[in-house]
Amino acid sequence: MNGRSPALAIEIDRLKPLPIYLQICERFRTAIAAGHLRPGDRVPALRNLSTQLSTARGTVELAYSILVDEGYLQMRGAAGTFVSPSLPGSVVQRADEKRAGGAKSRDTRREQPTRSEGAVTVAMSGEPRPLQPGLPALDAFPRKIWSRLVSRRVRSGDRAMLGYPDPMGYRPLRERIATYLGLSRGVTCLPEQVFITGGYRATLELVLRSLAQSNDRIWFEDPGYLLARNFLTESGVQLTPVPVDDEGMDIARGIELDPEARFALVTPSHQSPLGQVLSLTRRLALLDWAKKGARWVIEDDYDSEFRYSGRPLPALKSLDRHDRVIYTGTFSKVLFPGLRLAYAVVPDRAVERVGRVACSMNAGSSALLQAAVTDFIEQGHFARHVKKMRALYGQRRVFIADALEQAFGKRLNIDLPPGGIQFAVRFAEGPNGPVDDVAVAARARQAGLGVLPLSIWYANARMPRTPRGLVIGFANVTDASEAARLARKLRSCLDR
Ligand SMILES: Cc1ncc(COP(=O)(O)O)c(C=O)c1O
Repeated sequence: MNGRSPALAIEIDRLKPLPIYLQICERFRTAIAAGHLRPGDRVPALRNLSTQLSTARGTVELAYSILVDEGYLQMRGAAGTFVSPSLPGSVVQRADEKRAGGAKSRDTRREQPTRSEGAVTVAMSGEPRPLQPGLPALDAFPRKIWSRLVSRRVRSGDRAMLGYPDPMGYRPLRERIATYLGLSRGVTCLPEQVFITGGYRATLELVLRSLAQSNDRIWFEDPGYLLARNFLTESGVQLTPVPVDDEGMDIARGIELDPEARFALVTPSHQSPLGQVLSLTRRLALLDWAKKGARWVIEDDYDSEFRYSGRPLPALKSLDRHDRVIYTGTFSKVLFPGLRLAYAVVPDRAVERVGRVACSMNAGSSALLQAAVTDFIEQGHFARHVKKMRALYGQRRVFIADALEQAFGKRLNIDLPPGGIQFAVRFAEGPNGPVDDVAVAARARQAGLGVLPLSIWYANARMPRTPRGLVIGFANVTDASEAARLARKLRSCLDR
Protein backbone atom coordinates (compact mmCIF):
# COMPACT_ATOMS: atom_id res chain seq x y z
CA MET A 1 0.00 0.00 0.00
CA ASN A 2 1.63 3.24 -1.10
CA GLY A 3 -0.50 5.47 1.10
CA ARG A 4 -0.71 8.25 -1.52
CA SER A 5 -3.41 10.74 -0.46
CA PRO A 6 -4.48 12.44 -3.67
CA ALA A 7 -6.55 15.60 -3.42
CA LEU A 8 -10.09 14.67 -4.31
CA ALA A 9 -12.67 17.40 -4.78
CA ILE A 10 -15.92 15.78 -3.73
CA GLU A 11 -18.93 17.79 -4.67
CA ILE A 12 -22.44 17.11 -3.60
CA ASP A 13 -25.58 18.73 -4.82
CA ARG A 14 -28.20 19.22 -2.11
CA LEU A 15 -30.87 19.96 -4.69
CA LYS A 16 -30.46 16.56 -6.33
CA PRO A 17 -33.05 13.94 -5.34
CA LEU A 18 -30.19 11.43 -4.87
CA PRO A 19 -29.33 11.14 -1.16
CA ILE A 20 -25.95 12.54 -0.15
CA TYR A 21 -24.45 9.18 0.86
CA LEU A 22 -25.23 7.80 -2.59
CA GLN A 23 -23.74 10.89 -4.23
CA ILE A 24 -20.55 10.26 -2.24
CA CYS A 25 -20.50 6.61 -3.35
CA GLU A 26 -21.03 7.68 -6.93
CA ARG A 27 -18.16 10.19 -6.75
CA PHE A 28 -15.75 7.58 -5.40
CA ARG A 29 -16.73 4.93 -7.94
CA THR A 30 -16.22 7.39 -10.78
CA ALA A 31 -12.87 8.60 -9.40
CA ILE A 32 -11.66 5.00 -9.08
CA ALA A 33 -12.89 3.97 -12.52
CA ALA A 34 -11.29 7.08 -14.05
CA GLY A 35 -7.96 6.33 -12.35
CA HIS A 36 -7.95 9.50 -10.22
CA LEU A 37 -7.85 7.24 -7.21
CA ARG A 38 -5.64 4.17 -7.46
CA PRO A 39 -5.34 0.94 -5.51
CA GLY A 40 -3.67 1.64 -2.18
CA ASP A 41 -4.49 5.37 -2.15
CA ARG A 42 -5.62 6.70 1.18
CA VAL A 43 -9.03 8.36 1.12
CA PRO A 44 -10.05 11.23 3.43
CA ALA A 45 -10.82 10.36 7.03
CA LEU A 46 -14.52 10.30 7.93
CA ARG A 47 -14.26 13.40 10.06
CA ASN A 48 -12.36 15.38 7.42
CA LEU A 49 -14.73 14.53 4.63
CA SER A 50 -17.82 15.21 6.69
CA THR A 51 -16.41 18.62 7.66
CA GLN A 52 -15.46 19.34 4.06
CA LEU A 53 -18.98 18.48 2.88
CA SER A 54 -20.73 20.01 5.91
CA THR A 55 -22.59 16.79 6.37
CA ALA A 56 -23.06 14.38 9.25
CA ARG A 57 -20.24 11.96 9.93
CA GLY A 58 -22.79 9.12 9.76
CA THR A 59 -23.60 10.02 6.15
CA VAL A 60 -19.98 9.61 5.10
CA GLU A 61 -19.70 6.49 7.23
CA LEU A 62 -22.68 4.95 5.44
CA ALA A 63 -21.19 5.79 2.03
CA TYR A 64 -17.83 4.30 3.01
CA SER A 65 -19.41 1.13 4.33
CA ILE A 66 -21.29 0.64 1.05
CA LEU A 67 -18.04 1.14 -0.88
CA VAL A 68 -16.34 -1.38 1.40
CA ASP A 69 -19.17 -3.89 0.76
CA GLU A 70 -18.77 -3.32 -2.95
CA GLY A 71 -15.01 -3.94 -2.76
CA TYR A 72 -13.89 -0.43 -3.68
CA LEU A 73 -12.54 0.57 -0.28
CA GLN A 74 -10.81 -1.17 2.58
CA MET A 75 -10.88 0.02 6.18
CA ARG A 76 -7.64 -0.53 8.07
CA GLY A 77 -8.56 0.63 11.55
CA ALA A 78 -6.39 3.44 12.87
CA ALA A 79 -4.27 3.43 9.68
CA GLY A 80 -7.23 4.85 7.77
CA THR A 81 -9.36 3.92 4.78
CA PHE A 82 -7.79 2.99 1.46
CA VAL A 83 -8.77 2.21 -2.08
CA SER A 84 -8.76 -1.56 -2.16
CA PRO A 85 -5.31 -2.82 -3.24
CA SER A 86 -6.95 -5.76 -5.01
CA LEU A 87 -9.37 -3.79 -7.12
CA PRO A 88 -11.13 -6.04 -9.59
CA GLY A 89 -9.32 -6.32 -12.92
CA SER A 90 -11.98 -4.62 -14.97
CA VAL A 91 -12.00 -1.49 -12.79
CA VAL A 92 -8.26 -1.24 -13.21
CA GLN A 93 -8.61 -1.98 -16.90
CA ARG A 94 -11.25 0.71 -17.27
CA ALA A 95 -8.93 3.16 -15.58
CA ASP A 96 -6.05 2.06 -17.83
CA GLU A 97 -8.20 2.41 -20.92
CA LYS A 98 -9.27 5.84 -19.86
CA ARG A 99 -5.67 6.91 -19.39
CA ALA A 100 -4.68 5.37 -22.74
CA GLY A 101 -7.70 7.05 -24.33
CA GLY A 102 -9.09 3.95 -25.99
CA ALA A 103 -10.75 0.63 -25.49
CA LYS A 104 -8.87 -2.61 -25.73
CA SER A 105 -9.71 -4.93 -28.54
CA ARG A 106 -12.28 -7.56 -27.83
CA ASP A 107 -11.77 -11.30 -27.87
CA THR A 108 -14.15 -12.62 -30.46
CA ARG A 109 -13.45 -16.33 -30.06
CA ARG A 110 -16.61 -18.28 -30.43
CA GLU A 111 -17.75 -21.70 -29.41
CA GLN A 112 -20.98 -23.44 -30.02
CA PRO A 113 -23.10 -22.81 -26.93
CA THR A 114 -24.68 -25.73 -25.17
CA ARG A 115 -28.44 -25.61 -25.20
CA SER A 116 -30.75 -26.17 -22.30
CA GLU A 117 -33.28 -28.94 -22.14
CA GLY A 118 -36.96 -28.21 -22.72
CA ALA A 119 -39.34 -26.74 -20.22
CA VAL A 120 -40.00 -28.58 -16.95
CA THR A 121 -43.51 -28.35 -15.61
CA VAL A 122 -43.89 -27.22 -12.02
CA ALA A 123 -47.11 -26.26 -10.31
CA MET A 124 -46.69 -23.23 -8.03
CA SER A 125 -50.30 -22.11 -8.07
CA GLY A 126 -53.27 -23.28 -6.03
CA GLU A 127 -53.40 -23.75 -2.27
CA PRO A 128 -50.00 -22.73 -0.83
CA ARG A 129 -48.16 -25.71 0.67
CA PRO A 130 -45.80 -25.86 3.63
CA LEU A 131 -42.13 -25.36 2.59
CA GLN A 132 -43.15 -24.12 -0.86
CA PRO A 133 -40.35 -21.93 -2.25
CA GLY A 134 -41.02 -18.33 -3.20
CA LEU A 135 -43.89 -17.66 -0.83
CA PRO A 136 -43.62 -14.81 1.69
CA ALA A 137 -45.21 -15.21 5.13
CA LEU A 138 -48.89 -15.22 4.30
CA ASP A 139 -49.82 -15.27 8.00
CA ALA A 140 -47.94 -12.05 8.66
CA PHE A 141 -49.29 -9.83 5.91
CA PRO A 142 -51.23 -6.91 7.49
CA ARG A 143 -54.60 -7.83 6.02
CA LYS A 144 -56.61 -5.30 8.03
CA ILE A 145 -54.55 -2.37 6.82
CA TRP A 146 -54.63 -3.70 3.30
CA SER A 147 -58.39 -4.17 3.22
CA ARG A 148 -58.88 -0.67 4.68
CA LEU A 149 -56.71 0.82 1.93
CA VAL A 150 -58.41 -1.11 -0.85
CA SER A 151 -61.92 -0.37 0.36
CA ARG A 152 -61.14 3.31 0.84
CA ARG A 153 -60.05 3.45 -2.79
CA VAL A 154 -63.19 1.63 -3.92
CA ARG A 155 -65.40 4.00 -1.95
CA SER A 156 -63.53 7.10 -3.07
CA GLY A 157 -65.67 7.57 -6.16
CA ASP A 158 -62.51 7.95 -8.24
CA ARG A 159 -63.74 6.59 -11.58
CA ALA A 160 -60.19 5.88 -12.73
CA MET A 161 -60.07 3.05 -10.18
CA LEU A 162 -62.75 1.19 -12.12
CA GLY A 163 -61.76 2.10 -15.67
CA TYR A 164 -59.05 0.69 -17.92
CA PRO A 165 -55.65 1.19 -16.30
CA ASP A 166 -52.63 2.92 -17.82
CA PRO A 167 -50.68 0.16 -19.66
CA MET A 168 -47.41 1.62 -18.40
CA GLY A 169 -48.55 1.64 -14.80
CA TYR A 170 -50.31 3.89 -12.33
CA ARG A 171 -48.24 7.08 -12.33
CA PRO A 172 -48.09 7.66 -8.54
CA LEU A 173 -46.89 4.08 -8.05
CA ARG A 174 -44.19 4.56 -10.69
CA GLU A 175 -43.08 7.63 -8.73
CA ARG A 176 -43.02 5.75 -5.43
CA ILE A 177 -41.02 2.90 -6.96
CA ALA A 178 -38.47 5.32 -8.44
CA THR A 179 -37.96 6.92 -5.01
CA TYR A 180 -37.81 3.57 -3.23
CA LEU A 181 -35.20 2.19 -5.63
CA GLY A 182 -33.06 5.31 -5.27
CA LEU A 183 -33.08 5.04 -1.50
CA SER A 184 -32.91 1.31 -1.01
CA ARG A 185 -31.17 -0.14 -4.03
CA GLY A 186 -28.92 2.67 -5.27
CA VAL A 187 -30.86 2.75 -8.55
CA THR A 188 -31.31 6.26 -9.91
CA CYS A 189 -34.24 6.51 -12.30
CA LEU A 190 -37.19 8.65 -13.29
CA PRO A 191 -40.80 7.47 -12.98
CA GLU A 192 -40.99 7.49 -16.80
CA GLN A 193 -38.47 4.64 -16.83
CA VAL A 194 -40.57 2.48 -14.51
CA PHE A 195 -43.05 0.10 -16.15
CA ILE A 196 -45.54 -1.82 -14.05
CA THR A 197 -46.29 -5.36 -15.16
CA GLY A 198 -48.37 -8.33 -14.05
CA GLY A 199 -45.43 -10.30 -12.62
CA TYR A 200 -41.85 -11.13 -13.47
CA ARG A 201 -42.63 -13.22 -16.50
CA ALA A 202 -44.82 -10.43 -17.88
CA THR A 203 -41.80 -8.17 -17.36
CA LEU A 204 -39.63 -10.56 -19.34
CA GLU A 205 -42.22 -10.70 -22.08
CA LEU A 206 -42.37 -6.91 -22.27
CA VAL A 207 -38.58 -6.61 -22.38
CA LEU A 208 -38.08 -9.31 -24.98
CA ARG A 209 -40.89 -8.13 -27.22
CA SER A 210 -39.42 -4.67 -27.09
CA LEU A 211 -35.72 -5.39 -27.44
CA ALA A 212 -35.07 -8.91 -28.73
CA GLN A 213 -34.83 -10.00 -32.33
CA SER A 214 -35.38 -13.48 -33.66
CA ASN A 215 -32.40 -15.77 -33.04
CA ASP A 216 -31.10 -13.65 -30.17
CA ARG A 217 -29.45 -15.73 -27.49
CA ILE A 218 -29.53 -15.13 -23.78
CA TRP A 219 -27.09 -16.17 -21.07
CA PHE A 220 -29.01 -17.94 -18.39
CA GLU A 221 -27.67 -18.97 -14.99
CA ASP A 222 -27.09 -22.70 -14.59
CA PRO A 223 -28.77 -23.49 -12.27
CA GLY A 224 -31.28 -20.72 -12.75
CA TYR A 225 -34.84 -19.70 -11.98
CA LEU A 226 -36.96 -22.54 -13.21
CA LEU A 227 -40.04 -20.57 -14.18
CA ALA A 228 -38.05 -18.00 -16.14
CA ARG A 229 -36.27 -20.81 -17.99
CA ASN A 230 -39.60 -22.41 -18.84
CA PHE A 231 -41.00 -19.11 -20.00
CA LEU A 232 -37.99 -18.29 -22.18
CA THR A 233 -37.91 -21.79 -23.64
CA GLU A 234 -41.60 -21.56 -24.52
CA SER A 235 -41.02 -18.11 -26.04
CA GLY A 236 -38.49 -19.57 -28.46
CA VAL A 237 -35.50 -17.62 -27.09
CA GLN A 238 -32.26 -19.58 -27.29
CA LEU A 239 -30.68 -20.09 -23.91
CA THR A 240 -26.98 -20.42 -23.24
CA PRO A 241 -26.62 -21.96 -19.78
CA VAL A 242 -23.70 -20.32 -17.95
CA PRO A 243 -22.43 -22.08 -14.82
CA VAL A 244 -22.75 -20.53 -11.39
CA ASP A 245 -20.13 -20.89 -8.63
CA ASP A 246 -19.44 -19.23 -5.29
CA GLU A 247 -19.24 -15.81 -6.92
CA GLY A 248 -22.43 -16.17 -8.94
CA MET A 249 -22.60 -16.47 -12.72
CA ASP A 250 -19.17 -17.23 -14.22
CA ILE A 251 -18.88 -14.35 -16.67
CA ALA A 252 -15.56 -15.48 -18.17
CA ARG A 253 -17.16 -18.85 -18.93
CA GLY A 254 -20.15 -17.09 -20.50
CA ILE A 255 -17.79 -15.18 -22.78
CA GLU A 256 -16.07 -18.45 -23.74
CA LEU A 257 -19.35 -20.21 -24.40
CA ASP A 258 -21.26 -17.51 -26.21
CA PRO A 259 -19.51 -14.15 -26.58
CA GLU A 260 -22.11 -12.81 -28.97
CA ALA A 261 -25.27 -13.44 -26.96
CA ARG A 262 -27.41 -10.30 -26.86
CA PHE A 263 -28.82 -10.71 -23.36
CA ALA A 264 -27.78 -11.98 -19.97
CA LEU A 265 -30.28 -12.69 -17.24
CA VAL A 266 -28.89 -12.67 -13.71
CA THR A 267 -30.00 -12.71 -10.08
CA PRO A 268 -27.02 -10.75 -8.67
CA SER A 269 -28.23 -10.06 -5.13
CA HIS A 270 -29.34 -13.58 -4.35
CA GLN A 271 -28.69 -16.21 -6.97
CA SER A 272 -31.74 -18.30 -7.67
CA PRO A 273 -31.70 -21.01 -6.38
CA LEU A 274 -28.22 -21.30 -4.78
CA GLY A 275 -28.16 -17.95 -2.98
CA GLN A 276 -24.72 -16.52 -3.83
CA VAL A 277 -24.11 -12.83 -4.40
CA LEU A 278 -22.59 -11.92 -7.76
CA SER A 279 -19.12 -10.66 -6.83
CA LEU A 280 -18.00 -7.15 -7.66
CA THR A 281 -15.38 -8.47 -10.08
CA ARG A 282 -18.05 -10.41 -11.95
CA ARG A 283 -20.50 -7.52 -11.85
CA LEU A 284 -17.96 -5.28 -13.52
CA ALA A 285 -16.96 -7.96 -16.02
CA LEU A 286 -20.60 -8.47 -16.95
CA LEU A 287 -21.19 -4.74 -17.42
CA ASP A 288 -18.02 -4.52 -19.47
CA TRP A 289 -19.15 -7.33 -21.76
CA ALA A 290 -22.56 -5.72 -22.14
CA LYS A 291 -21.14 -2.30 -22.89
CA LYS A 292 -18.72 -3.54 -25.54
CA GLY A 293 -21.36 -5.25 -27.63
CA ALA A 294 -24.36 -3.01 -26.84
CA ARG A 295 -25.96 -6.00 -25.11
CA TRP A 296 -28.65 -6.04 -22.45
CA VAL A 297 -28.34 -7.37 -18.93
CA ILE A 298 -31.62 -8.19 -17.20
CA GLU A 299 -31.19 -7.91 -13.44
CA ASP A 300 -33.76 -9.94 -11.50
CA ASP A 301 -33.78 -8.35 -8.04
CA TYR A 302 -36.65 -10.40 -6.69
CA ASP A 303 -35.99 -10.67 -2.94
CA SER A 304 -32.98 -8.53 -2.06
CA GLU A 305 -34.89 -6.77 0.74
CA PHE A 306 -34.35 -9.84 2.87
CA ARG A 307 -30.80 -10.16 4.11
CA TYR A 308 -30.02 -11.42 7.57
CA SER A 309 -26.48 -10.24 8.06
CA GLY A 310 -25.31 -6.83 6.99
CA ARG A 311 -27.20 -4.49 4.78
CA PRO A 312 -28.87 -5.43 1.48
CA LEU A 313 -26.30 -5.05 -1.29
CA PRO A 314 -26.78 -2.30 -3.85
CA ALA A 315 -28.25 -3.44 -7.13
CA LEU A 316 -26.08 -4.27 -10.14
CA LYS A 317 -27.96 -1.43 -11.83
CA SER A 318 -26.32 1.02 -9.43
CA LEU A 319 -22.98 0.32 -11.17
CA ASP A 320 -24.39 0.62 -14.67
CA ARG A 321 -22.61 3.62 -16.19
CA HIS A 322 -23.53 2.74 -19.77
CA ASP A 323 -27.22 2.08 -19.37
CA ARG A 324 -27.12 -1.57 -20.35
CA VAL A 325 -29.04 -2.97 -17.37
CA ILE A 326 -32.77 -3.48 -17.29
CA TYR A 327 -33.63 -3.72 -13.61
CA THR A 328 -36.62 -5.85 -12.62
CA GLY A 329 -38.39 -6.11 -9.28
CA THR A 330 -41.57 -7.64 -7.95
CA PHE A 331 -44.08 -7.11 -5.14
CA SER A 332 -44.54 -10.87 -4.82
CA LYS A 333 -42.01 -11.29 -2.00
CA VAL A 334 -42.37 -8.00 -0.15
CA LEU A 335 -46.20 -8.07 -0.24
CA PHE A 336 -47.84 -11.19 -1.68
CA PRO A 337 -47.68 -13.02 -5.03
CA GLY A 338 -51.44 -13.06 -5.63
CA LEU A 339 -51.17 -9.30 -6.18
CA ARG A 340 -49.47 -9.93 -9.53
CA LEU A 341 -47.54 -6.68 -9.60
CA ALA A 342 -43.94 -6.34 -10.70
CA TYR A 343 -41.91 -3.70 -12.51
CA ALA A 344 -39.02 -2.96 -14.81
CA VAL A 345 -36.70 0.02 -14.88
CA VAL A 346 -35.81 0.59 -18.48
CA PRO A 347 -32.74 2.54 -19.67
CA ASP A 348 -33.60 5.91 -21.16
CA ARG A 349 -32.81 4.93 -24.72
CA ALA A 350 -35.34 2.09 -24.62
CA VAL A 351 -38.19 3.90 -22.85
CA GLU A 352 -40.04 4.90 -25.98
CA ARG A 353 -39.83 1.46 -27.55
CA VAL A 354 -40.90 -0.34 -24.39
CA GLY A 355 -43.72 2.19 -23.92
CA ARG A 356 -45.04 1.49 -27.39
CA VAL A 357 -44.94 -2.26 -26.84
CA ALA A 358 -46.56 -1.92 -23.39
CA CYS A 359 -49.45 -0.01 -24.93
CA SER A 360 -49.98 -2.48 -27.73
CA MET A 361 -49.32 -5.66 -25.77
CA ASN A 362 -51.37 -5.55 -22.61
CA ALA A 363 -54.17 -3.67 -20.96
CA GLY A 364 -52.16 -2.96 -17.80
CA SER A 365 -52.65 -4.15 -14.23
CA SER A 366 -55.51 -3.28 -11.90
CA ALA A 367 -55.46 0.45 -11.11
CA LEU A 368 -57.24 -0.25 -7.85
CA LEU A 369 -54.53 -2.57 -6.54
CA GLN A 370 -51.74 -0.32 -7.79
CA ALA A 371 -53.35 2.63 -5.99
CA ALA A 372 -53.67 0.58 -2.80
CA VAL A 373 -49.97 -0.38 -3.02
CA THR A 374 -49.13 3.31 -3.52
CA ASP A 375 -51.03 4.17 -0.34
CA PHE A 376 -49.37 1.27 1.48
CA ILE A 377 -45.97 2.68 0.59
CA GLU A 378 -46.86 6.35 1.14
CA GLN A 379 -48.30 5.74 4.59
CA GLY A 380 -45.16 3.92 5.75
CA HIS A 381 -46.72 0.44 5.98
CA PHE A 382 -44.39 -0.93 3.32
CA ALA A 383 -41.18 0.05 5.11
CA ARG A 384 -42.56 -1.24 8.42
CA HIS A 385 -43.68 -4.51 6.89
CA VAL A 386 -40.33 -5.18 5.20
CA LYS A 387 -38.48 -4.43 8.43
CA LYS A 388 -40.76 -6.72 10.40
CA MET A 389 -40.49 -9.51 7.84
CA ARG A 390 -36.71 -9.29 7.79
CA ALA A 391 -36.64 -10.03 11.52
CA LEU A 392 -39.30 -12.73 11.25
CA TYR A 393 -37.65 -14.55 8.33
CA GLY A 394 -34.30 -14.34 10.11
CA GLN A 395 -35.85 -16.47 12.87
CA ARG A 396 -37.84 -18.77 10.62
CA ARG A 397 -34.87 -19.74 8.50
CA VAL A 398 -33.05 -20.83 11.67
CA PHE A 399 -36.07 -22.88 12.81
CA ILE A 400 -36.11 -24.86 9.60
CA ALA A 401 -32.34 -25.19 9.20
CA ASP A 402 -32.04 -26.58 12.76
CA ALA A 403 -34.97 -28.91 12.27
CA LEU A 404 -33.63 -30.26 8.96
CA GLU A 405 -30.24 -30.86 10.51
CA GLN A 406 -31.89 -32.73 13.34
CA ALA A 407 -34.07 -34.85 11.04
CA PHE A 408 -31.57 -35.58 8.26
CA GLY A 409 -28.20 -35.58 10.02
CA LYS A 410 -25.44 -36.19 7.49
CA ARG A 411 -27.84 -37.03 4.68
CA LEU A 412 -28.36 -33.35 3.91
CA ASN A 413 -25.87 -30.50 3.43
CA ILE A 414 -27.36 -27.27 4.69
CA ASP A 415 -25.83 -23.81 4.41
CA LEU A 416 -27.82 -21.23 6.27
CA PRO A 417 -28.80 -18.72 3.59
CA PRO A 418 -27.63 -15.11 4.08
CA GLY A 419 -30.79 -13.80 2.47
CA GLY A 420 -34.04 -14.52 0.68
CA ILE A 421 -37.06 -16.57 1.69
CA GLN A 422 -35.99 -19.95 0.35
CA PHE A 423 -32.81 -21.97 0.14
CA ALA A 424 -31.30 -24.93 -1.64
CA VAL A 425 -30.02 -27.94 0.30
CA ARG A 426 -28.06 -30.85 -1.18
CA PHE A 427 -28.39 -34.52 -0.50
CA ALA A 428 -25.31 -36.44 0.45
CA GLU A 429 -25.01 -39.64 -1.54
CA GLY A 430 -27.27 -42.34 -0.04
CA PRO A 431 -26.53 -46.05 0.56
CA ASN A 432 -27.69 -46.76 -3.01
CA GLY A 433 -25.88 -43.93 -4.78
CA PRO A 434 -27.14 -40.43 -5.64
CA VAL A 435 -30.56 -39.59 -4.25
CA ASP A 436 -33.32 -39.16 -6.83
CA ASP A 437 -34.47 -35.70 -5.77
CA VAL A 438 -37.34 -35.64 -8.26
CA ALA A 439 -38.78 -38.77 -6.64
CA VAL A 440 -38.27 -37.33 -3.14
CA ALA A 441 -40.06 -34.11 -4.10
CA ALA A 442 -42.89 -36.10 -5.68
CA ARG A 443 -43.32 -38.12 -2.47
CA ALA A 444 -43.17 -34.90 -0.47
CA ARG A 445 -45.86 -33.43 -2.68
CA GLN A 446 -48.07 -36.44 -2.00
CA ALA A 447 -47.46 -35.83 1.68
CA GLY A 448 -48.74 -32.25 1.22
CA LEU A 449 -45.38 -30.44 1.14
CA GLY A 450 -44.34 -27.89 -1.50
CA VAL A 451 -40.57 -28.47 -1.81
CA LEU A 452 -39.04 -28.64 -5.30
CA PRO A 453 -36.21 -30.86 -6.53
CA LEU A 454 -32.94 -28.96 -7.03
CA SER A 455 -31.72 -30.85 -10.09
CA ILE A 456 -34.49 -29.52 -12.33
CA TRP A 457 -33.12 -25.98 -11.91
CA TYR A 458 -30.10 -27.13 -13.91
CA ALA A 459 -30.01 -27.08 -17.71
CA ASN A 460 -29.01 -30.75 -17.81
CA ALA A 461 -31.12 -32.04 -14.97
CA ARG A 462 -30.55 -35.73 -15.52
CA MET A 463 -26.77 -35.73 -15.98
CA PRO A 464 -25.17 -38.02 -13.37
CA ARG A 465 -23.12 -35.19 -11.84
CA THR A 466 -25.96 -32.70 -11.52
CA PRO A 467 -26.39 -31.88 -7.82
CA ARG A 468 -29.40 -33.48 -6.14
CA GLY A 469 -31.24 -31.70 -3.40
CA LEU A 470 -34.30 -29.63 -2.61
CA VAL A 471 -35.36 -26.01 -2.82
CA ILE A 472 -37.22 -25.17 0.36
CA GLY A 473 -39.26 -22.11 1.32
CA PHE A 474 -39.10 -21.16 4.99
CA ALA A 475 -41.10 -17.93 5.29
CA ASN A 476 -44.24 -19.71 6.50
CA VAL A 477 -42.66 -21.94 9.14
CA THR A 478 -44.17 -20.33 12.22
CA ASP A 479 -42.16 -21.88 15.07
CA ALA A 480 -39.60 -24.49 16.02
CA SER A 481 -42.13 -27.23 16.69
CA GLU A 482 -43.80 -26.77 13.31
CA ALA A 483 -40.34 -26.79 11.72
CA ALA A 484 -39.54 -30.08 13.47
CA ARG A 485 -42.84 -31.64 12.34
CA LEU A 486 -42.29 -30.59 8.71
CA ALA A 487 -38.65 -31.72 8.71
CA ARG A 488 -39.65 -35.16 10.03
CA LYS A 489 -42.34 -35.44 7.39
CA LEU A 490 -39.83 -34.52 4.71
CA ARG A 491 -37.32 -37.01 6.10
CA SER A 492 -39.89 -39.77 5.77
CA CYS A 493 -39.97 -39.04 2.02
CA LEU A 494 -36.24 -39.56 1.58
CA ASP A 495 -36.00 -43.34 1.55
CA ARG A 496 -38.81 -45.35 0.22
C1 LIG B 1 -35.83 -15.83 -9.16
C2 LIG B 1 -37.17 -15.17 -9.14
N1 LIG B 1 -37.39 -14.09 -9.88
C3 LIG B 1 -38.56 -13.44 -9.88
C4 LIG B 1 -39.61 -13.89 -9.13
C5 LIG B 1 -40.88 -13.13 -9.12
O1 LIG B 1 -41.85 -13.63 -9.91
P1 LIG B 1 -43.32 -13.02 -9.89
O2 LIG B 1 -43.19 -11.53 -10.01
O3 LIG B 1 -43.94 -13.62 -11.10
O4 LIG B 1 -43.98 -13.47 -8.65
C6 LIG B 1 -39.45 -15.04 -8.35
C7 LIG B 1 -40.56 -15.59 -7.55
O5 LIG B 1 -40.49 -16.64 -6.97
C8 LIG B 1 -38.20 -15.68 -8.34
O6 LIG B 1 -37.96 -16.78 -7.59
